[in-house]
Amino acid sequence: MLEIRRMTPQVGAIAEGIDVRTMDDATFATLYRTWLECNVLVVRGQQLELGEFLAYSRRFGLIEAHPSKSTRHPDCPEITLLGVNKFGADGKLDMAIYKRGASGWHTDGAYDAVPFKATQLYGLAIPSRGGNTLFASMYAAYDALPENLKQRIDGLQGAYIYGGRRKSTALLNPEDRDKKPALHPLVRTHAETGRKALYFDPGKILRVEDLEPDESDALIGELTGYMIQPGAEYHHQWQKGDIVIWDNRCSYHKAAGDYPPEEDRIHWRVSIKEPAAAH
Ligand code: OGA
Ligand code: MN
Repeated sequence: MLEIRRMTPQVGAIAEGIDVRTMDDATFATLYRTWLECNVLVVRGQQLELGEFLAYSRRFGLIEAHPSKSTRHPDCPEITLLGVNKFGADGKLDMAIYKRGASGWHTDGAYDAVPFKATQLYGLAIPSRGGNTLFASMYAAYDALPENLKQRIDGLQGAYIYGGRRKSTALLNPEDRDKKPALHPLVRTHAETGRKALYFDPGKILRVEDLEPDESDALIGELTGYMIQPGAEYHHQWQKGDIVIWDNRCSYHKAAGDYPPEEDRIHWRVSIKEPAAAH
């Protein structure tokens, strides 16, 4: 029987007592509604093959292969492998793989004209300590902005690329490193909940459009300070067999990146988009 526990008042819910391979549409509808309300949904205790993970993920939207070609699953390009090939041929820890997702709070796919609706991970190997994923609400970030700042950013757009201002593109093939920036409003209304969110990613933003460079840098610094609000965070401690999906339209996340490097931390990952018509 489906049991759902909300983990914090604003972010995070854990569902147990179901098998995502066999659940009916009514159960999925409950999961989906919970996910929209809580931004992050964990389904615990699953045992999935590649195709089963894909089939469950497709219930949330369209799956798109991630631009990091070097980390795609060899048998299934739509699935990205996290934590695989962490040590190079020389035995050295590859920090781009070990610290993937850990360099700062972010939202996935802001560099695309149609950014990711969701990202979903399935935990295959979990280290004995560390390795959490941290989540925070973009709704709370928007609500916390002073009125004059809300007005100042209304109508402004951020320009985003994969490696941001630091140009950190180690996981991309050379031919994929020079794409045009994608533009997104700093205040984004969620297509399904209708709520306003501070849509922002300091690691991928190049500039705020229509501002002088120093004004743009100052605004990026100011907005960064509002991203994480007290009481609007959830820290997920992984168990093997957890499926976690987060809503990139209304949450920030980051990997803690602090687990013992000699231990395995391996996930399957998919990027999920909404059909273009939903924008
Ligand atoms: C990601 C990501 C966090 C983690 O896959 O986009 O940020 O904890 N992952 O692995
Ligand atoms: Mn991420």
